[in-house]
Amino acid sequence: MSKPTTPGNSRRRFLAGAAATTGLVAASSFVPTRFAIGAKAPVKIGILLPYSGTYAMLGESITNGMKMRIEQAGGMLAGRAVEYVAIDSEMSVPKAPQNTKKLMSKEKADFIVGPVHSGIAAAMSKIVGARKSPIMIVPNAGHNGITGELCAPNIFRTSFSNWQPAFPGGKVMADDGHKTAVTISWKYGAGIQMMGAGKAAFEANGGKVIKEILMPFPDVEFQAYLSEIAALKPDAVFSFFSGGGAIKFVKDYAAAGLKETIPLYGPGFLTEGVSKAQGAAAEGIRTTLHYAANLDNPANKAFRAAYISAFGDKPGPNVFSVQGYDAGSLLLQGLAAVGGDTGATGDLIAAMESATFADSPRGFWKMSKAHNPIQDIYLREVKDGVNLVKGIAAKALEDPATGCKMG
Ligand code: BEZ
Repeated sequence: MSKPTTPGNSRRRFLAGAAATTGLVAASSFVPTRFAIGAKAPVKIGILLPYSGTYAMLGESITNGMKMRIEQAGGMLAGRAVEYVAIDSEMSVPKAPQNTKKLMSKEKADFIVGPVHSGIAAAMSKIVGARKSPIMIVPNAGHNGITGELCAPNIFRTSFSNWQPAFPGGKVMADDGHKTAVTISWKYGAGIQMMGAGKAAFEANGGKVIKEILMPFPDVEFQAYLSEIAALKPDAVFSFFSGGGAIKFVKDYAAAGLKETIPLYGPGFLTEGVSKAQGAAAEGIRTTLHYAANLDNPANKAFRAAYISAFGDKPGPNVFSVQGYDAGSLLLQGLAAVGGDTGATGDLIAAMESATFADSPRGFWKMSKAHNPIQDIYLREVKDGVNLVKGIAAKALEDPATGCKMG
């Protein structure tokens, strides 16, 4: 059974005060909102994110970003205090239904924020989307189906679909003059969908994928695959890994002597939040993502300064904390519109659908009809350990939302 967790962070004092995180035991004395709006009961946010394993940094960054946004607004949601109850997802798909039901039925969370992992997202959304409430905010997991065939009025995403950063990446690889490529990733929703999107764009632009490597998640034994790539001699490699796995892949790739001869591409997760840890092995890698460290907008500058001041620079602000920050903005706007009444589900959903993100560190974005960001995808390149923007790979890119019957 997964343990309730108070996400660890050296700067936890930043979060002390109104927006406290509690474990499941402490939270069980919660007074249901419908009995206590007059008394300003806390808004309860159930969090299902990874705080252990290869994606631990992602869960931590999202949590920090969301809490920071709410703290910046006074630590309240429409005048109501905020109570967080967090469960470590352990990146376990089999445990996802049980964890989701725990947050819904036992904890009676008003909102569920999570997950990071596409497989968990699919499992969660089948449960949450079958009901009118609670409202689920996906602050990372890119599973195309969440805002496609599994879309639902009470499911929103503040991150991306797996197709979004990967499709422009395949075109960049072709535009850079490469004719053949190998794809390599983990064999689960995110890896399969991102590699599929990258391949489609690469081949539509004259390239040919000569080998598709999928390895078990979250394995990091890359050696045999790297030897295979060396023997195949493609022009380029297109890859999705993230968190701890991305650190090791990029380092092993360079150590195998491939970096100089077969350039690495991929959705920006390959170097996001980990480029400093990857060191020289990451230098020059070109990726596509909806965020870059040096985006020249005032919101990004303020966000980065505040984040570093609160949580330090290891790993520092990144796309995951931005997605959490925007989840906080979505909560603030939605609840402001209904005066904090979490029971006004229809009006709350309507307000969240029309929420604006002019002040997002990633630049302006808005919700699509399927509840997924319509956003710019940037071309980035790592220089001195930082993912720097080189241009816009796709402007205001909207996911096709294939199969979504809503809206
Ligand atoms: C996913 O599983 O959807 C995912 C995980 C890490 C980074 C990006 C996507």
